[in-house]
Amino acid sequence: MANPTSSGLEGVVVAETMISDVDGERGRLIIAGSDVEQLALTTSFEDATRRVLVAGGAAPEALDVAPSLARSRVEAFELLPRLGDALSLPDAMDALRTSLGHLRTTGNDLLDAIAALGAAPVIVSAWNRTRTGVAPIAPDPTLGHAADYIRMTTGTTPTAAAAKALDAYFVTVIDHATNASTFTARVIASTESDMLSAIVGAVGALKGPLHGGAPGPVLDMLDAIGSPATAERWILDELAAGRRIMGMGHRVYRVRDPRAAVLETAVRPLASKRLELARAVETAAAKILLERKPDRPLAANVEFYTAVLLDAVGLPREQFAATFATSRIAGWAAHVLEQRRTGRLIRPASRYLGAMP
Ligand code: COA
Repeated sequence: MANPTSSGLEGVVVAETMISDVDGERGRLIIAGSDVEQLALTTSFEDATRRVLVAGGAAPEALDVAPSLARSRVEAFELLPRLGDALSLPDAMDALRTSLGHLRTTGNDLLDAIAALGAAPVIVSAWNRTRTGVAPIAPDPTLGHAADYIRMTTGTTPTAAAAKALDAYFVTVIDHATNASTFTARVIASTESDMLSAIVGAVGALKGPLHGGAPGPVLDMLDAIGSPATAERWILDELAAGRRIMGMGHRVYRVRDPRAAVLETAVRPLASKRLELARAVETAAAKILLERKPDRPLAANVEFYTAVLLDAVGLPREQFAATFATSRIAGWAAHVLEQRRTGRLIRPASRYLGAMP
């Protein structure tokens, strides 16, 4: 029998990294030398991208991220008519995966990473507009990445506060050590495959609700609960039905995910009508889960306030997981660079339990 405590590779060190560090006991996340709380509220996504790529081994002089990303968004928009039916797929993550698969590798990791980073917001916003029967909107290279993403989705240039909040979100989720999708990217890179293949594979890993697919369901949960007074009852019923509370629990954190606090702070200036409800639901869920599982701390994870923030900046919930990917591509790319420099072919073992000849 596979050992159930190690089948998820808990505690197994699979890489040495300069990119980010997660301290699950103390609830601390360091990204490229800075605490996430400090980085998220003071840095743009473009600058955070530069920092993680440099931490992964890119030469700083080779990186002029803001103009490169703007150019890459414009180039990606020209690609849209050649994406076949990718934009009509029902799931945004499938659309993103399939569309990124249309990019051609140049053989240069950095160029490929910038192409994917620029393409992601164009693809995801075009997917949403296609789904709702309106034409995709061309990027505006004079805007920041976060602001342009909101604009391409909603058709309106966002307020400075909304753009800042999405920037804070993008920076907060840019990297998180060797999570499932990042590990996937590193495994693919370890075979000496190309950057785009690693990114496309990582999108597939991120899609699942145990990883990046939770924020849409968190918003569904807040809608279903409706008011703080019904939170406890709803959560008890959900657990009684054998379902998990989305946005709660984490494989590594044994305290509240520090990113939840960052996003809760970042969303405050937007006066979201859901913030107060979210706080009440979090409190109720944490209390009930503590009573149920006193030995397994289950606190809010990043997805809880992701849902509130992305909703408050005007993005539809169907786009939430793909919005996460739009940022995390930077982290994946940094890990691919690092894997190439410091890693070797990742090839773990398995124990054969089948019949013998
Ligand atoms: N709601 C209710 N119970 C939960 C729970 C949640 N959100 N998360 C974990 N648990 C319970 C499990 O049912 C399990 O109970 P059991 O031992 O009685 O079977 C126990 O806590 C341990 O769970 P386990 O699946 O071993 O933890 P994990 O480290 O593999 O899971 C997550 C981590 C994130 C996958 C898990 O907490 C989860 O599914 N959360 C909800 C989805 C989510 O928010 N995903 C986004 C992650 S950033």
